[in-house]
Amino acid sequence: MSKKIVFATNNAHKLNEVRAILGENIEVQSLRDINCYDDIPETADTLEGNALLKARYIYERYGVDCFADDTGLEVEALNGAPGVYSARYADENGHNSEANMQKLLKELDGVENRKAQFRTAIIVIVNGKEHLFEGIVKGSIIKTRKGTSGFGYDPIFVPEGYDKTFAELGDDIKNKISHRAVATQKLCKFLLK
Ligand code: IMP
Repeated sequence: MSKKIVFATNNAHKLNEVRAILGENIEVQSLRDINCYDDIPETADTLEGNALLKARYIYERYGVDCFADDTGLEVEALNGAPGVYSARYADENGHNSEANMQKLLKELDGVENRKAQFRTAIIVIVNGKEHLFEGIVKGSIIKTRKGTSGFGYDPIFVPEGYDKTFAELGDDIKNKISHRAVATQKLCKFLLK
């Protein structure tokens, strides 16, 4: 492995996804790998802003090449909500997927326009220079949960061109077409240049 880069996360699911895309060419280290146990602030009101906060936090303290991401589910009929607040949509403390899906389904009760997209922003800092990559997957929100794989809003999101949710499609397909996959592929191309 020639290159090393720190991904500002300890989320095992995301690390696996990203490592699967970057393959053998680039060693991806987690925050734990660099002994960072801080609760990095995510206080911006955009995805790009949060990714930038996290990447700069690591670069400024550890001086290593690094990247950070932030993802949101943007629902057209809700003017882009929950967006940057996707993790904390139903609950301030965040990451309660069941409650988040329940709230979203309630908000969309009786709403015909079910269009939505997942959007990922990645900020990478290499040799002190910042670069932004974006990945989007368009789709729609169904009315009841389906499938068991993945995480977050996966059981209610059907990507365009498919008739199954991300949670039914499973990791192999999701890792090829997801918002994070698209953004990570752009990152990979840049890093291997
Ligand atoms: P994060 O910025 O990647 O932590 O994402 C914020 C929130 O968006 C997560 O807590 C999930 O609720 C949701 N989310 C992000 N990526 C996905 C995904 O691939 N599938 C389903 N939900 C996701």
